Amino acid sequence: MQRSFVAELAAPGDKVPVRACDLESNPVWLFASIGEYPVYDDVAYEVMIKDERRMNRYSEAVRRYAPGRTVLDIGTGQDAVWALAAARAGARHVWAVEVIPRSAQIARKNIEQAGFADRITVVEGLSTEIELPEPVEMCVSEIIGTLGGSEGAGRVLRDARERLVRPGGVFIPHRSATTAVALDVSSANLGEPLGFPPLVLPYVEKVFASVGRPFDLRVVLEGVQDNPKVRERAYLSDVVEVEPLEFNGDLRPEGVDAAELTFTREGRFSGLALGMRLWVAEDDEPIDSLFQPSSWTPAYAPLAEEGLPVRPGDRFEFDFTTVVSDDGVHPDYGLAGELHRAGARTAPLSWGSTHHADGFRTTPFYRSLFPRP
Ligand SMILES: C[S@@+](CC[C@H](N)C(=O)[O-])C[C@H]1O[C@@H](n2cnc3c(N)ncnc32)[C@H](O)[C@@H]1O
Repeated sequence: MQRSFVAELAAPGDKVPVRACDLESNPVWLFASIGEYPVYDDVAYEVMIKDERRMNRYSEAVRRYAPGRTVLDIGTGQDAVWALAAARAGARHVWAVEVIPRSAQIARKNIEQAGFADRITVVEGLSTEIELPEPVEMCVSEIIGTLGGSEGAGRVLRDARERLVRPGGVFIPHRSATTAVALDVSSANLGEPLGFPPLVLPYVEKVFASVGRPFDLRVVLEGVQDNPKVRERAYLSDVVEVEPLEFNGDLRPEGVDAAELTFTREGRFSGLALGMRLWVAEDDEPIDSLFQPSSWTPAYAPLAEEGLPVRPGDRFEFDFTTVVSDDGVHPDYGLAGELHRAGARTAPLSWGSTHHADGFRTTPFYRSLFPRP
């Protein structure tokens, strides 16, 4: 029988080994951030295909740049959407790379059925470990994470630039950034603590299994970005950008960004929502996952479980650090800062989120999300 990491966390007799929540009474709930692990399933691919804004921006960019070019599609997925779009637009040849074997197999079948087997070659493996017969003229990829770089776009696309794409070749997307806004989680969720609804547990299990043990996995907030009323209760500040990734320019997968948020209304500051902005083509309006319904959901960076009282004009100053983990691709994130409040002492606050490092129940948030039996 296959081991279940999630079931092992339960006390004898407990049904659910995590802080569970009920979708009826919780406007906001948690999901696992899954895009940075090889756990994509039919549902995950379908959610992306149904994201109209994402599909339209990418389709337009591919139609504009693919004609007459040789193309590399990194992370083609089981539907090979951008490989097929490029071939249909008149690309000379497309190499479609996919690391999940089942997805690569299905992609191959879909490409054959669409009649493009002679113009699209599916390559199973990691783009960072493959070779191409010759460098290509264009690279398309959608490996943008809940935080812009969390799926490894910085390292993966820099490697593609150095080894797989001709000098001057075009990259789609053009640019991404991670965005941050201060949150009042308690108001957003009408006083209820955040939890996982039962439907999320299989994904928590898959992430634990892909790393080989339970750990403090990155979580995302469902129910905020697409509901203006919840957003109004949740967001307490202006928005800043960190982790800029220039895919057609000076691409830096690691760095420290100094940032400052100014509170625009009164509330209890519990942490940050970390989203992403994505410019698929240079002159596009960015896709903005903090404010638009999207297949990308903002990550939650808990900073103060009980929430610290804030007023308009208070500030949260912080350094946001991105370091590539020891797998050479996926970043570990860290944030350290100070809350400056009128008439109150400054409060030092920090958060960290690794891709796969040791550490389980290391903070009050994770101890209450995964209570000890
Ligand atoms: C967010 S999905 C996008 C799928 C499809 N391209 C789309 O836009 O609908 C990312 C896909 O890229 C694959 N992937 C991520 N990094 C990769 C890499 N470096 N090499 C090959 N495949 C990768 C994942 O397994 C997953 O199937």
